Amino acid sequence: MKDSNQHHQALQKIAAAAHPPRPWTGAGQLPWHEPDFSERMLKVHLDPDTHMASRSPAVIRRHVDWLLAQLNLSGHTGAARILDIGCGPGLYCHELARRGHTAVGFDFAPAALAWARQQAEADGLPATFFEADLTALPEDLADRVGPVDVICFWFGEFHSFRPPVAEDFLQRLTVCLRPGGLFSLEYQPWDLFVQQDSSQWSSCGGSVFCDKPHLWLQEFAWDEASHTEIHVHWIIEEESGSLHRYEQCHQAWPESDLVAVLGRAGLGDPTFHPPIAGVDEEFEFPVLVTRKTP
Ligand SMILES: C[S@@+](CC[C@H](N)C(=O)[O-])C[C@H]1O[C@@H](n2cnc3c(N)ncnc32)[C@H](O)[C@@H]1O
Repeated sequence: MKDSNQHHQALQKIAAAAHPPRPWTGAGQLPWHEPDFSERMLKVHLDPDTHMASRSPAVIRRHVDWLLAQLNLSGHTGAARILDIGCGPGLYCHELARRGHTAVGFDFAPAALAWARQQAEADGLPATFFEADLTALPEDLADRVGPVDVICFWFGEFHSFRPPVAEDFLQRLTVCLRPGGLFSLEYQPWDLFVQQDSSQWSSCGGSVFCDKPHLWLQEFAWDEASHTEIHVHWIIEEESGSLHRYEQCHQAWPESDLVAVLGRAGLGDPTFHPPIAGVDEEFEFPVLVTRKTP
């Protein structure tokens, strides 16, 4: 039975919240690490018809072709050891391993990691995965990962972190790279940030946020002071009126600031590359490649 009191409270909470939403007041990221969310998101990762969470296998193959060409151009020959940050279900690691390279991926989404491991095992691939949170990287990361020839960070997830947090993990990650090794960062260019407030709603039978029928209210805002895009999802379950709020914040970086933060982490010689496959402006971005200064 519908609980109208719950529905009423949900509406009151939404009405009482800040509109437009303020930046970095909550988690700032999708709840990737929550088991139920991760299970639902895994289906989106593996759906070849959407680029929303992972690209299709054909696009990933093109990205891997490009990455290996960069490695070649940098003077590396033979099999490489590659670290993939926020690897999700390991699609890049699997492809690299199929080409004879050793791939290591980490993420903190449990269902994605479980799938990544199962696939690698089933196909006998030299790809391994471990759980780690970028914002709390283990002290022994470099020992665990060993010196790698390439670190790659696909899909602009880099923008989900505030600059001091990003600076901290870049420094920790660089320790894992051999001198002269490549750091490949897919970043969202400044002009793709929507610097305008808006909102929209829809009614869904189910989404990544909830299996049950719900109303999905979305608010988009731009905070000029911190250069942050804020995207709030309000989920109201139709039957019970339960309310959930998820907040995504995306930090915009001018290219010069990106080069500077990478430089402070010991990564120089920057080269900017346009989107590799050119499939979808919203879901494929340019790549900035730097090298660990020897
Ligand atoms: C858009 S998905 C891309 C996944 C994968 N790179 C791909 O392209 O198929 C972003 C990934 O970043 C991971 N991620 C987000 N925040 C993270 C954190 N703090 N620590 C580790 N992984 C994180 C998510 O769990 C998710 O798998």
